[in-house]
Amino acid sequence: MSTIVAPSLLSADFGDLRKDLEMINRSEADWLHLDIMDGVFVPNISFGFPVLKYVAQYCKKPLDVHLMTVQPEKFLDRFHELGTAIYNVHFEACMHLNRVIYEIKQRGMKAAVTLNPSTPVSMLNDVIADLDMVLIMTVNPGFGGQKFIEHSIAKVKELRRLITQTDSKALIQVDGGVNFETAPRLVKAGVDVLVSGSTIFLAPDPEEAIRTLKKL
Ligand code: DX5
Ligand code: ZN
Repeated sequence: MSTIVAPSLLSADFGDLRKDLEMINRSEADWLHLDIMDGVFVPNISFGFPVLKYVAQYCKKPLDVHLMTVQPEKFLDRFHELGTAIYNVHFEACMHLNRVIYEIKQRGMKAAVTLNPSTPVSMLNDVIADLDMVLIMTVNPGFGGQKFIEHSIAKVKELRRLITQTDSKALIQVDGGVNFETAPRLVKAGVDVLVSGSTIFLAPDPEEAIRTLKKL
């Protein structure tokens, strides 16, 4: 099985979004990763529903929604109506994680949980069996183009061990600083899904960059 690649729209050209969405549609990308930031959970604001409606209309790939917001359960219905395939909430943003996971699945979406760089993998011990995916943040969330946090490799290995031990079906996703140097090491450590923003969108040939990441 080749690596799943999810380009992050955050690094796209918002002045010509249709061009980048057409590139994604044509490419070998598996999903489109959408970063939702509220300026509270993270020190940045990205894009909201007027933009997302357009994206959902044009994009032919499944939508992988990464909610960097407080109370991410507030938006379950709006994103479900948009056609979201994967609903990804931060561990740090959920007071009642078990309930949120149940509510995601109840709507027929895949349930994913994200860990900030400072949150240990063991925080997921009691929910890992219920998850479709775990996202290990490999930078502090909020901005594209940041430097990869090296300790993430050890976290990926630890998560792989937990998934094996518990017979969980969860995929391992990473997000932040994924480039041609870090990606092969992440895949070797046990990653299934690579999210990448600047490495793909700033590449001279983004489709070729996606193909290269998929081959890892
Ligand atoms: C950061 C976002 C990422 C971002 C990654 O908070 O969650 O998805 O787009 O950007 P790169 O790949 O440029 O580090
Ligand atoms: Zn993201």
